[in-house]
Amino acid sequence: MTSYDAVFQHSIKNPEEFWAEAAKSITWYKPYDKVLDSSNAPFYKWFPGGKMNTCYNAIDRHVEGGRADQVAIIYDSPVTNTLKKITYRELLEKVSTFAGVLADQGIGKGDTVIIYMPMIPEAAVAMLACARLGAIHSVVFGGFAAHELAIRIDHAQPKLLITASGAVEGKKVLAYKPLVDSAIEQSTHELKKVIVYQRDLVKADMIAGRDMDWMELVGKSKPVGCTAVDATDPLYILYTSGTTGMPKGVIRDNGGHAVALYWTMKNLYNINPGEVWWSASDVGWVVGHSYIVYAPLLQGSTSVFYEGKPVGTPDAGAFWRVISQHKVKSLFTAPTAFRAIKKEDPKGEFIKKYDISSFECLYLAGERTDPDTLHWAEDMIGVPVIDHWWQTETGWAIVGNCRGIELLPVKEGSPTKAMPGYDVRVVNDDNEVVPKGTEGNIVVKLPLPPGTLTTLWRNDERFIKSYMTKFPGYYETSDGGYIDEDGYVYVMGRMDDVINIAGHRLSTGAMEEIISNHPDVAECAVFGADDQMKGQLPVGLFVVKAGVTRDGEEIKKELVKMVRDSIGPIACFKDASQVVRLPKTRSGKILRGTMRSIANNKEYRMPSTIDDPAILTEITEALAKMGYVKK
Ligand code: COA
Ligand code: AMP
Repeated sequence: MTSYDAVFQHSIKNPEEFWAEAAKSITWYKPYDKVLDSSNAPFYKWFPGGKMNTCYNAIDRHVEGGRADQVAIIYDSPVTNTLKKITYRELLEKVSTFAGVLADQGIGKGDTVIIYMPMIPEAAVAMLACARLGAIHSVVFGGFAAHELAIRIDHAQPKLLITASGAVEGKKVLAYKPLVDSAIEQSTHELKKVIVYQRDLVKADMIAGRDMDWMELVGKSKPVGCTAVDATDPLYILYTSGTTGMPKGVIRDNGGHAVALYWTMKNLYNINPGEVWWSASDVGWVVGHSYIVYAPLLQGSTSVFYEGKPVGTPDAGAFWRVISQHKVKSLFTAPTAFRAIKKEDPKGEFIKKYDISSFECLYLAGERTDPDTLHWAEDMIGVPVIDHWWQTETGWAIVGNCRGIELLPVKEGSPTKAMPGYDVRVVNDDNEVVPKGTEGNIVVKLPLPPGTLTTLWRNDERFIKSYMTKFPGYYETSDGGYIDEDGYVYVMGRMDDVINIAGHRLSTGAMEEIISNHPDVAECAVFGADDQMKGQLPVGLFVVKAGVTRDGEEIKKELVKMVRDSIGPIACFKDASQVVRLPKTRSGKILRGTMRSIANNKEYRMPSTIDDPAILTEITEALAKMGYVKK
């Protein structure tokens, strides 16, 4: 039997040989000239000279190769009471025809297209149709408000935007089109074309001359073939939260992405072509890009598209119902989903109602898996529960447990060991590797493996500054943690102003920028407080301008509304309080980390640079009043 160690060592000692072997799983129109081009590091290029098409690899070749009648996508939407199974043949027809629609609208190789859609198969059709033409898609998560969409429109400068009339969010029906209209109004980029997929549950008003109906266009269009692209050409831009209000546009290439994702399906997730795989996330997140759409389709397996929640649609048995009904082999979701199920069904009564004998493994990511959730899930479902750690930037796991190679013993609190391809180290602020068991900055020695970000969209400088500068020779993950004697990695959390709410990545810096715009606010700080259900929730403290005498509670309500309207409900910003002043260093830097420790009842050292230690007593009292500090 191959061991994890052997595979890992091979990937680190001879990455080119390792990934050349993996690249055989992809159909190339023209072979690549070399596996890795390091001549312009840190802008590494995987498989330069190679020509291929991601959509061809995800659909056409399966149809040609005997999987035409196999189900590619199972769309399960409990609230709309819809169940649709789409075979690879049907998917090819839908995608090639929609690619025809896009081509008719002048979309071609290198053009950018924004997709703002809920969890319906048409979202995948839109993504794959772009890939088919060599166009670059940028999917924006539906929980983001118009302002966030506008920021992305201005930065990605799309020729066209694709949306749906609305979404089912839990039991609520949300209209998307008014948000799209408002975003286009707020943006400076001139967006002339919008394609709208009308759903029965909500009808969108159309703006004449700009908006076009998806179904009408499809009726008039003809299927088109795949455009050959360079392996190094961009497949998509995915914006993710950084430390400021301007998100980072992570760029994924075509060739390296296809090779790496295909490799993970068997080696990490132990899924074989033809088997049913379910990633319960959303196409708007990286997990959705990689494991709802691209990886399972590249491999020729069946992907479940679930437009529902773990609870409330209709109950805490929803996941078990889906697993049993579709014979799901493995599920990937965020720990929050399991905490939500556990809260409603602590004894696992719902599980007993379903035959989940097809189920082999649960994969968790997006946030740290706390030991309680890990053990509860293990006890209830009796299959391995595997935590794995990754980021939008990497597109696939950095640390995990390669069950398809060798299942390593699970240690609670650790997502296990570095994935093949990732030389993970922990360094101190002077870029020195720290001894085993010592906490520090988690970094990855360059080059990163294929499938990881190649740069940031139209911002090479920010790419270098954000990831490649602080620790020369390494990729800076911005997560802190340690590696134990056995090589298990422990990820303790972000070292920057990014927080994780229910497995969703959000920027406290972006929230601060919005709050600072309130006419009465002089300064503010937003940081993450631990939350039993969602992992973290944002908390704001604000100081009002001199002369402002209004009630702080009233101002708070306005701030909550501002963040909800600007970033979206997904920011879950609901708690803020007025304080007289904020703790700062003598040079004026706000001590957010110290306030976070106070809110989370963690011990902290009095910062030596603090200008007035007495402020911390006031902050502790304010946070205690808000219910954060347990006395
Ligand atoms: N479109 C519009 N609004 C959305 C949305 C979407 N796609 N997704 C979420 N929202 C809204 C929610 O309706 C909610 O609004 P509200 O404040 O009006 O109630 C808000 O954003 C917060 O959503 P969420 O954090 O999802 O909280 P919730 O209470 O609705 O659900 C869970 C809690 C645990 C059930 C839910 O977070 C969940 O299923 N998590 C799984 C994690 C996951 O999928 N992570 C993805 C990365 S792997
Ligand atoms: P995102 O880019 O949205 O995938 O968020 C990435 C961040 O989520 C990481 O930098 C981590 O802080 C956190 N994260 C993701 N998975 C895990 C995990 N398994 N354990 C701990 N933190 C995680």
